[in-house]
Amino acid sequence: MQSPETFPALAYETSLQLNADGELRHLLTLKGLSRDLLTALLDEAQHFVSQPGSATIRSRSLAGRTVANLFFEPSTRTRASFDLAGKRLGADVLNLDVNTSSRKKGESILDMIYTLQAMHVDIMVIRDASAGVPAYIAHHVEDHVSILNAGESDVSHPTQGLLDLLTIRQRLGKFENLIVTIVGDIAHSRVARSAAEGLHTLGVGELRLVSPPSLAAAPDDMPYARSLDNLDDGLRDANVVMALRIQRERIADLDGIPDSDQYFEQYGVSKKRLQVAAPDVIVMHPGPMNRGIEIESTLADSPASVITQQVSNGVAVRMAVLEWVSRTMASR
Ligand code: CP
Repeated sequence: MQSPETFPALAYETSLQLNADGELRHLLTLKGLSRDLLTALLDEAQHFVSQPGSATIRSRSLAGRTVANLFFEPSTRTRASFDLAGKRLGADVLNLDVNTSSRKKGESILDMIYTLQAMHVDIMVIRDASAGVPAYIAHHVEDHVSILNAGESDVSHPTQGLLDLLTIRQRLGKFENLIVTIVGDIAHSRVARSAAEGLHTLGVGELRLVSPPSLAAAPDDMPYARSLDNLDDGLRDANVVMALRIQRERIADLDGIPDSDQYFEQYGVSKKRLQVAAPDVIVMHPGPMNRGIEIESTLADSPASVITQQVSNGVAVRMAVLEWVSRTMASR
């Protein structure tokens, strides 16, 4: 679903995310957040993880708060986990069906936001196909409202970045000296950007971005990472391998994009290809995954795969972020 409006490319200045006391008010991007803040968010998320494989710990810390989920693009994991996260913290959660909302009758996104603001929604969780939407809204809401970015075009997906960081930390205990390889459609991936921003801040040893040349990042995008087009070179000695799907919905001209069989042959992550990686390599995927295209199906279900752990951590991370911005609100 493409947003019918256009939005100014607002700078993600740190002051927009943090209040005057340096506390997190909105979460729009991981870029510019300090190592201490990222670590504290991961610690808070870890607190909600009870036992591996179990549901998160519950609390009533958001009782009396209202969270609205506004997803203008499809989602399973992010939407469901924000819904569960809000409910497990005792919030009232509004999942607005945007397909039957008055935006379909031409209402602007700001008028929609002002309407929800007047109903005393405290936290708005927004996913949109257009770059700039979360920052644009954050610039316009009143002080009592927080905005959380749940996926913005190819720009940013900060809670996905946090859950990826949490999963790596749980499995490998550190970021320093790790080789992390992200494979796939880097050019159109907000997941790659947010993971890269967080990993860079937390001091990852080496970050590799592997893609066909037609799906590579621009040279000045993520300059701290090493870009490669050969998967075997990218996988050598890697401790973490994250596979990404081709984001066809963001590609206007699919000419030059390898077909599924060619893609798997050259860029599909498989058990055989992983033989050159570190012996305890973990395999990640943000989902939704296309088995047999970017990742071998049996690998996705193998002990090396941490994909279901990523999904579980998504609830804990979103609980931590909701609780954090709610605390910032209470301190105003
Ligand atoms: N990883 C992710 O954002 O998945 P969904 O699109 O299902 O929310």
